[in-house]
Amino acid sequence: MKNNLIWHHHPVDQSVRAEQKNQHPAVIWFTGLSASGKSTLAGALEEILTAQGYHTYLLDGDNVRHGLCGDLGFSDADRTENIRRIGEVAKLMADAGLIVMTAFISPFRADRRSVREMLPDGQFVEVFMDASLEVCKARDPKGLYIKAERGEIKEFTGIDSPYEVPPEPEVRIDADRLSVPEGVNLLLDYLHRRKILRREYQRVEEGDLA
Ligand code: ADX
Repeated sequence: MKNNLIWHHHPVDQSVRAEQKNQHPAVIWFTGLSASGKSTLAGALEEILTAQGYHTYLLDGDNVRHGLCGDLGFSDADRTENIRRIGEVAKLMADAGLIVMTAFISPFRADRRSVREMLPDGQFVEVFMDASLEVCKARDPKGLYIKAERGEIKEFTGIDSPYEVPPEPEVRIDADRLSVPEGVNLLLDYLHRRKILRREYQRVEEGDLA
């Protein structure tokens, strides 16, 4: 199908769009169990970055599954397709010059690696929300673990569907213990060190977040 397609190079490319926004694009990819805090931390990071003048977009698992991926379920093949689509969308958004955050369980190493390989070097930042299954089950904000344990939901990650821990994430968040501001500060420090954030930044304190 791709045989007769030729890539068209346009005069405005990623570097022009990024320069206009005075930032380095990146995809900050949060991965971890359901209820590990991916969406919360990604949302808090986005709040702080936009307040500090950065241009961002947050792609969130539950929201994307209402639209772009509304036809997909939770089999291994559907999860792989889910992550492939999100990866392509995140890549387009980074190409638009944005700092993109994604919050998906993304349980399979190979799928995360494929997204990393789609992006220019250094633009994929894997953030592992390292929360124990016990803590996620105890939080269970949507009551899904209870249902999965009763057998009312099949192929639930951590119960009867696997989660493959990232061996070498760029950032590991001790999600059982760290508060949201502590997690945001770890990420800000990392992004600044890696020069994804070019300007000086302010660390976050309790009360700074909505
Ligand atoms: S992924 O595995 O394909 O990356 P994704 O992050 O999009 O998953 O969706 C996970 C969200 O869907 C969970 O936070 C939860 O709210 C909901 N969900 C519903 N069924 C399942 C299931 N079987 N396994 C995991 N999450 C599920």
